[in-house]
Amino acid sequence: MSGSVTYDGAPPPGTIDMGVGQPSADLLSVDLVRQASESFLDEAHPFELNYGVLEGDERFLESLAGYLAEGYDAVVRPESLFVTGGNSQALDLISTVFSKAGDTVFVEEPSYYLAFQIFRDHGLKVVGVPIDGDGMRIDALEALLDEHSPAFVYTIPGYHNPAGCCMKTERRGRLIELSRQHSFLIVADEVYQLLYYYDRPPPALGTMIESDTVLSLGSFSKILAPGLRLGWIQTSPVLRDRLIENGFVVSGGSINHYSSHIVRHVIDLGLQHAHVEQLKREYRKRVEAMQDSLQAHFGDLATWQRPDGGYFFWLRFGDDVDTGSFRVRAAELQTGFQPGSKFSSDGGLSNFLRLSFAHYGEDDIREGVARMRPLFD
Ligand SMILES: Cc1ncc(COP(=O)(O)O)c(C=O)c1O
Repeated sequence: MSGSVTYDGAPPPGTIDMGVGQPSADLLSVDLVRQASESFLDEAHPFELNYGVLEGDERFLESLAGYLAEGYDAVVRPESLFVTGGNSQALDLISTVFSKAGDTVFVEEPSYYLAFQIFRDHGLKVVGVPIDGDGMRIDALEALLDEHSPAFVYTIPGYHNPAGCCMKTERRGRLIELSRQHSFLIVADEVYQLLYYYDRPPPALGTMIESDTVLSLGSFSKILAPGLRLGWIQTSPVLRDRLIENGFVVSGGSINHYSSHIVRHVIDLGLQHAHVEQLKREYRKRVEAMQDSLQAHFGDLATWQRPDGGYFFWLRFGDDVDTGSFRVRAAELQTGFQPGSKFSSDGGLSNFLRLSFAHYGEDDIREGVARMRPLFD
């Protein structure tokens, strides 16, 4: 093997950077991908290396529907699914198909900051809707709908990035009602929906697509491997048809055909289910390690809600604290976090910070949190 292995956002050696929201090496299984790849290649027809049908290979969509039906505990039809290159690509495609430059889109405040960039790349105006411990505040959304007509509302309803919370079931229903009344689409980024460590979360918005206003985005990035660049959009037939008519899709065929073959075998061999069970066991231990060490080191300084799934803790400090100002010193102490202001659509939230427990095991998490404490003394 030549050259060293690196990846986007890799921290310097020795640093425990809890700003990194990516799985640790022990949770990325080369063996699993090898097994599924061999299973596929041993029986592959040459046409499986041709362009794939636009919405995605029928056999993959069937396997995925079966997997999601079990994970969501709901009926999932293969005809409601469309293959993507992961949620980032799906957000870009949705921006192309369902909005035009100059349109307004609503995001949650806070929200996944890299989505802001995708929306702004499309010339969209981003407006924040505040959230609380139960997800998007519907009263605030209603007030903003008096002033704006958004093309879509982007929400992360399950185990929010960065806030860790879940949108209450009742709010999900209300959001759908409002989408019909005000003619906007709901873009639900459900990337963490299957990563729950205690009770099941409220039903996925992907299971509520009958209104013709919901596009639910899922991805194998968090449940298998980000490098596969494979995900899906779950939606109703009218909206799926709009995606299928997009020029990029018509020209290139199924967006990630090859990975979809491999992942079909991962699912059909029963490896996907087993892998997620293992992830959930491991992440639950990490949540508890982070919760304990935060209580020990930050109990007097910050408040937070322990997440029941996903990747993140979201800490709130006193109003006079600017977490961004501690980043350089944090790097010197070989630790790290993401400052709250990154997740704000208008430069607010500077007294918050986000920690991820996905990239490190329990011992490193304890050590990383302990290293952070002197920053705040
Ligand atoms: C809320 C959210 N959406 C999308 C992504 C990126 O997803 P993908 O790897 O499927 O492009 C992430 C990854 O951190 C995320 O947290």
